Amino acid sequence: MAKAITEYKLAKEVFSLGRDIIMSDEAQSMKTFTQHGTTSVFEHALAVAKFSLLFAINLEAMFGVKVDRESLIRGALLHDYFLYDWHKPSDKRRGLHGFTHPAIACENAVRDFNISPIEQDIIKHHMFPLTVIFPHSWEGWLVCFADKWCALCETFGMDVSSYIIYRVNLHYELLRGRIPLGAPGKKEDKAVITDGVKGTEEDCGV
Ligand SMILES: [Fe+2]
Ligand SMILES: [Fe+2]
Repeated sequence: MAKAITEYKLAKEVFSLGRDIIMSDEAQSMKTFTQHGTTSVFEHALAVAKFSLLFAINLEAMFGVKVDRESLIRGALLHDYFLYDWHKPSDKRRGLHGFTHPAIACENAVRDFNISPIEQDIIKHHMFPLTVIFPHSWEGWLVCFADKWCALCETFGMDVSSYIIYRVNLHYELLRGRIPLGAPGKKEDKAVITDGVKGTEEDCGV
């Protein structure tokens, strides 16, 4: 019998394959920019990584396609790594955001991370068909679809990714010692305790 795909497993795989990106100050800076509705670019990137992985697992199971999951997740995490607020004028912007931000994101990603040709394909071509060149890899197509699905959900306020966002943010805060382990009762512990996570980093799961 096929194993169930759970939110926990998706979150765990996204985190294990994209950990260096997720935990970096550079990627964390995407939290300061809004993407759709009330969703930050960082949250959007996590959501797209999660759905890209979900689609990949189904594609592999149904058609036997071999997906490079590591490139898939890393490319998804960096697909909107353009690093400016696209709602406001910015000297980092070039022309119309929708058309130009994939190239800017790719330049930033190459500068800040060690990324593969597949990851570059994902980032550069995720806006197809708005940008005319289509992805050249399965991974690129998966992120292209996941990006549109997440944009739709975020625009209409549908919660589809709060679990992975919560787990990643919790892990980030734990690693920086901002949530004291084993010291319940303090204000900042309450969110942790009410969510059933008590104590160790391993319990955090991602
Ligand atoms: Fe984008
Ligand atoms: Fe996006």
